[in-house]
Amino acid sequence: MSEKSPCILIAGGAGYIGSHAVLDLKSSGYQPVIVDNFSRGNKDIAELTGAECEEGELSDCAFLKKVIKKYNPDAVMHFAAWTYVGESVSQPERYYNNNVVATLNLLSTMRELGVGKFIFSSTAATYGLPEAIPIPEDAVQAPINPYGSSKLMVERILSDFNAAYGLQYTIFRYFNAAGASSNALIGERHDPETHLIPLALSAAAKGTPFKVFGTDYPTQDGTCIRDYVHVDDIARAHVLGLQRLEAGEEKGIYNIGTGSGYSVLEVINTIEKVTGLKVPYEVADRRAGDPPELIAKAERISKDLKWHARHSGLEEIISTAWAWHRKDWDLT
Ligand SMILES: NC(=O)c1ccc[n+]([C@@H]2O[C@H](COP(=O)([O-])OP(=O)(O)OC[C@H]3O[C@@H](n4cnc5c(N)ncnc54)[C@H](O)[C@@H]3O)[C@@H](O)[C@H]2O)c1
Repeated sequence: MSEKSPCILIAGGAGYIGSHAVLDLKSSGYQPVIVDNFSRGNKDIAELTGAECEEGELSDCAFLKKVIKKYNPDAVMHFAAWTYVGESVSQPERYYNNNVVATLNLLSTMRELGVGKFIFSSTAATYGLPEAIPIPEDAVQAPINPYGSSKLMVERILSDFNAAYGLQYTIFRYFNAAGASSNALIGERHDPETHLIPLALSAAAKGTPFKVFGTDYPTQDGTCIRDYVHVDDIARAHVLGLQRLEAGEEKGIYNIGTGSGYSVLEVINTIEKVTGLKVPYEVADRRAGDPPELIAKAERISKDLKWHARHSGLEEIISTAWAWHRKDWDLT
C-alpha cells in the first residue's frame, strides 16, 4: 500500500451507491476497500470497480477487527443498510438490528482501534412529512417508518460519539439516487427493485406495465414529485466530505439533492424521449406515507463542500441509467 493512498473502508461498497463512491475514491487517489456481506450487493459489480473486497458481516466484531487491523483505514464510509420502507414497517426488528445495532458495532470497533472519521448515508426519509419545501437540513426530523427512524437513530449516535470520543463525521441525507456511471461500467441493480427509473425503464424494455401510485396528489399533474440526484454526484460529495474531514472539520450534516423536483409523469415522459420507447403503466392507489413532494434545499453542501450537481439533469440521469440497464439486461 502506497503512503500516498489513504485507505478508506467502504461498508456496503458492493451496493448501488457505495460502488460508485469506490470508483470516485480510486480516481481521486485513495485506496478504497469494500466490506460487504453481499446480502443485497453484487459481487460482479464489486469486482468491476477493481477495489479490494472483504466479504463479511458488520455485526461480526472479530471480522471487523481483522479487517481494520489489516488495512489500518483513515476513514470509514458506511453505505450498508436495509433500505426498503415497506419491509421496515413489516420487519422493524430486522431494520433496527442491521441499520442501528450493526452500525453501533462498527462504530465501537472503530473507536477501539482508533479510526476517527466516519461518513454516513442518511436519507430524506428522516424528515418524514416535511412542513415546507425545499427541505433545509435544520427542518424537523420526524420519520414515519422504521427505516427513517433507524437512520435518525444513527445520526444521534454520531452526535454523541463526537461529543464523547471526538469522532469526526459527515452525515449525507440523500434524496433520490439515480443514474449509472457515465461509461456504463456499473449501475443500479436491486432485487427487488423499488425505484421509479429502473422500474419504468424495465417496463419500457419489456412492454409490461408498472404501477404509478397515486395521480391525485396536490402537484401539477397529480403524481409525486422527487429530487433526483445522479449517483456520480453523490459519490463526488463523499470524496469532498472526506477531504473536509481530513482538513479538520469535526462534523457536518448535508442534504444531497439538486433543489429541483420532477413528477412521476415527467420522469416517464423523459424516459420515452430518451429511449424512443413507450412506458406502459397502470394507475394504482396512493401508498401510505408517500409525501406529495420531496425537494432538498441544497445550499449548505454547495457553500461548504463546493459541491454542485453536475450530472443530475433528468435526461443525463436517464441516459446513463438506460445505457447501463441495456448492458445489464443484455438488450441489443
Ligand atoms: N438509493 C437511494 O436512493 C437512497 C436514498 C437515501 C438513502 N440511501 C442510503 O444509502 C445507502 C446505500 O443505498 P443503496 O441503494 O446503494 O443500497 P444497496 O442495498 O444497493 O447497498 C447496500 C449494501 O450494503 C450491504 N450490506 C447490508 N447490510 C450489511 C451488513 N450487515 N454487513 C455487510 N454488508 C451489508 C448489502 O449487501 C449491499 O451491498 C443505504 O444506507 C441507504 O439507506 C439510499
